[in-house]
Amino acid sequence: MSKQNPHDSITKETLHKQEKIVNMFDEIAPSYDKANRMMSLGVDVSWRVSACKKAFEALGKEHIECVLDVACGTGDMLWHWQNEANKAQKHIAHLRGIDPSSGMLEVAHQKLAALLEEGRLTLQEGEAKALDIQSQSVDILSIAYGLRNVVALEEALDEFVRVLKPGGVIVILEFMNNKKRGVFSSLMRFYTSKILPLVGGLVSKNYAAYKYLPDSIQNFVSSDELAQKLSQRGVKSYFVKSYSANISTLYVGVKL
Ligand SMILES: C[S@@+](CC[C@H](N)C(=O)[O-])C[C@H]1O[C@@H](n2cnc3c(N)ncnc32)[C@H](O)[C@@H]1O
Repeated sequence: MSKQNPHDSITKETLHKQEKIVNMFDEIAPSYDKANRMMSLGVDVSWRVSACKKAFEALGKEHIECVLDVACGTGDMLWHWQNEANKAQKHIAHLRGIDPSSGMLEVAHQKLAALLEEGRLTLQEGEAKALDIQSQSVDILSIAYGLRNVVALEEALDEFVRVLKPGGVIVILEFMNNKKRGVFSSLMRFYTSKILPLVGGLVSKNYAAYKYLPDSIQNFVSSDELAQKLSQRGVKSYFVKSYSANISTLYVGVKL
């Protein structure tokens, strides 16, 4: 009788965990945008705009060949990339969005119909750990509130660095596990762990999905740990800032 390899069960467990996360996003996809705006009281828009502006500054190019948004979900970040490029008079030749949830991608297709029709946007089903993208072909890679959901974090970071051009920019927006003291930070932690699941649960009628949000933040890395992981892979931090009493963190790095 053949012995069971302990790594097999670890891999199965990882796959199962990832599958459950993606199924959850399929379920909440139709109400995702509405819940998002209500939970963040619309402030997430300013975090996204800051991310685009800092990335353009770090890249320093007027003509950008490819912007890739991993875990693109319903397409908000892709919309912002195009909008901010217009405002800054920059030209993006091609935008690409990748996400494993067909439900989230369906909403993105509707939201970004004009860009798709122009042939300047490609939406693709896929996971961060195995990007169907040529090496060294991407100028800007973003992942907004997606990395916490990627079970294979190390493999995903390897992939991000592989597809970026030298000098390319990586942009991560995330609710990081940063421990900060202070009354306002404690209030924000209370808001994230108790109020957000209630609001998200009410709008989506799926409390479990929004209870997962604070749990996933607790299990995630801090911005320092993330910066270190990227530095080990040859990415230099360009800008790291936490917004709104440490709720959301923006990391911008440049591949050396
Ligand atoms: C909180 S949503 C963020 C969506 C979008 N980026 C935004 O800013 O609104 C997280 C997204 O991560 C995606 N996701 C989950 N696991 C993933 C993985 N392994 N690789 C890539 N994306 C993943 C989900 O399908 C979901 O669309």
